[in-house]
Amino acid sequence: MGDPDDVIIVTGAASGMGRACAHRFAGRARLVLVDLDPVAVEAVATATGGHPFAADVTDAERVAELAAFVASTGRFRALVHAAGISPVMAEPARILEVDLRGTALLLDAFDRLVVPGSVAVCFASIAATMIAGAGDPAIDAVLDDPLADDLVERLRVLERSPLDDPALAYGWAKRAVVRLVRRTAPTWGPRGARIVSLSPGVIDTPMAAREEAVGPMIAQLMETTPLHREGTADEIAAVVDFLCSTDASYITGVDIVVDGGTTAGLATGI
Ligand SMILES: NC(=O)c1ccc[n+]([C@@H]2O[C@H](COP(=O)([O-])OP(=O)(O)OC[C@H]3O[C@@H](n4cnc5c(N)ncnc54)[C@H](O)[C@@H]3O)[C@@H](O)[C@H]2O)c1
Repeated sequence: MGDPDDVIIVTGAASGMGRACAHRFAGRARLVLVDLDPVAVEAVATATGGHPFAADVTDAERVAELAAFVASTGRFRALVHAAGISPVMAEPARILEVDLRGTALLLDAFDRLVVPGSVAVCFASIAATMIAGAGDPAIDAVLDDPLADDLVERLRVLERSPLDDPALAYGWAKRAVVRLVRRTAPTWGPRGARIVSLSPGVIDTPMAAREEAVGPMIAQLMETTPLHREGTADEIAAVVDFLCSTDASYITGVDIVVDGGTTAGLATGI
């Protein structure tokens, strides 16, 4: 990254892909490592020379404290937002809160820190493209207002409510992240900053292991995935590194799919 004042923030840094990103960026900037799990994030911070910052990304006050800490530490160079939960981990409302509202809170808080060269990579998922109701304007209108106090109530009254189904809640939350990133890019671009979403396919992390344990869906997906294997957290960290680098200086406002071809396999039925 270069400038000694550069700060790279990684959320979800205690596990999986966030942890791999923390290791990838170790020694290259001031690292601020954010996670709900204070003990595990402390261990990653010790291993990478980063600064641990225990926080729940759905806690607006704590997210504001994080932004203030980053501002006092240096220059916002990159935000890698990997914190998230999957369908087996929580009730639908909590999935929407963490995966969607948490992302919106972070982007809101970091907006005032944006300087030329700042980059954000927000983790979405290929699940966003695999859900029922995608493209329904009534659903998108609700999802496009993620900080509304009545988000959950507005979703509850929809004909196909994600509050009845954690997998739907997850897919919609991630679809909303892709859309939020797309809407944010035009406001960051004139300030010399970039933002992308990254949609992993099935990546070998503790999260994927928990999803695999409850049913055959992931094994079935691997059968139709052209590379016939799960990705590794390091393969994702390598793409994140590229997206945050100046080599990616013309990439903004898009979703980058890194899935070993899973979505292509689903589309073509191979
Ligand atoms: N693993 C996959 O196959 C896969 C596929 C598609 C998308 N994703 C997405 O990639 C991201 C990273 O997933 P992973 O597989 O590395 O997961 P993981 O479970 O290994 O790690 C996620 C980390 O996020 C933290 N976290 C959860 N809720 C939080 C909160 N409210 N505040 C702060 N930290 C919180 C957890 O403590 C954990 O350390 C997630 O957004 C996930 O939805 C994962």
